[in-house]
Amino acid sequence: MSLKDKLKGAAIILGGGAVCFTGINIANGNEKFYHDFVMPAFRWVDPERAHVLAVKAAAWGLVPRSKYKDSSILHCKAMGLEFTNPIGMAAGFDKHAEAMNGLLKMGFGFVEVGSVTPEPQEGNPKPRVFRLTEDKAIINRYGFNSVGHDLAYQRLKERQEQAAHLPENQRGIIGVNLGKNKTSPSAVQDYVNGVKKLGCLGDYLVINVSSPNTHGLRAMQGRQQLAELVDQVVAMRDLLPCTPKPPVLVKIAPDLTQADKEDIAAVVMAKKGAVEGIIVTNTTITRPDSLVGKHKGETGGLSGAPLKNMSTAAVRDMYRLTNGKVTIVGVGGVSSGLDAYEKIRAGASLVQLYTAFAYEGPPLPSKINRELEELLRKDGFKSVSDAVGADNR
Ligand SMILES: Cc1cc2nc3c(=O)[nH]c(=O)nc-3n(C[C@H](O)[C@H](O)[C@H](O)COP(=O)(O)O)c2cc1C
Repeated sequence: MSLKDKLKGAAIILGGGAVCFTGINIANGNEKFYHDFVMPAFRWVDPERAHVLAVKAAAWGLVPRSKYKDSSILHCKAMGLEFTNPIGMAAGFDKHAEAMNGLLKMGFGFVEVGSVTPEPQEGNPKPRVFRLTEDKAIINRYGFNSVGHDLAYQRLKERQEQAAHLPENQRGIIGVNLGKNKTSPSAVQDYVNGVKKLGCLGDYLVINVSSPNTHGLRAMQGRQQLAELVDQVVAMRDLLPCTPKPPVLVKIAPDLTQADKEDIAAVVMAKKGAVEGIIVTNTTITRPDSLVGKHKGETGGLSGAPLKNMSTAAVRDMYRLTNGKVTIVGVGGVSSGLDAYEKIRAGASLVQLYTAFAYEGPPLPSKINRELEELLRKDGFKSVSDAVGADNR
């Protein structure tokens, strides 16, 4: 990158920081102000720069603190972990473990960092992120741009040490999502190395075998390959020197056949107690006919509103195939309390989002939690857990 580009980037970040700071002070978490002014201002900037800017704003604490106090009805326990609310930031926003505290401050119940690859790598050439504004969607082909294990380790370690001074219920839950290097000779070894290096720094670990932007990755969802991967990852997890040992989850694609899903369920069930959860789903390589955004033809994974029903259907399938015995994290197109509630009723114990946050900004997690609380009460549920899988009963 030339000096001119660096200066331009710095100016955008500083200018954007000033906009954020002013916005936060004026808006103070006000949904309408963010919706009408702050987020449209972000859309003047190209999507990757806007992403970097948003991460920096969260990393520097230039984000409003959620004014919603998590109701006890939203408290939930999954995989041995206690969540103050079930709404998390999905992997891909905080790829480099910079913005965890800022995201928790905005009201997310948990934050998944990554995907992190063993060695640092640039990812695909730019441009590689595209807004489909009319569709409330994004297409990305980042291709695992990552700072690598060493830097992620330092950042996670520092945050873990800070959090250790807080009361247990204020530490926040951090997941670590593991990826593989593009040119790695052994994908399995990359994941095993991730567990070894970062395993004690996450409350849970994710084996991401579903990003569409790394050649051959999704083939690892196949029965035999997944079984081998899970065996080795879990063996390494069991050797970690920390207690409790982090639960392991597998993140799957929305573009699987029924047979693929049955195979994944079979592997997870066979290793029950070894793999604690499934994250359903990553982005899709399909392009629904409904898309109108001018970038709809770009290569990459599609996320946001057009993915919602596809991913909810996959949550329902995986819940049924695992007889409700494995924790499911539902992700794809969530932008309201109702969307989250649908995922929960389909079988998700926890819910994540990313794309809607890129459009709605900081007020979103609190808004979703408030709406979800109302929906649970209206239907007479005493807790989130009571509603998990309700549509399948
Ligand atoms: C720009 C972008 C980058 C992403 N990067 C990752 C990633 O590195 N690892 C991963 O597991 N998922 C990644 N995802 C997928 C999200 O975690 C999520 O599964 C998907 O976007 C569906 O949720 P959404 O519709 O709420 O965005 C990424 C998504 C987007 C939009």
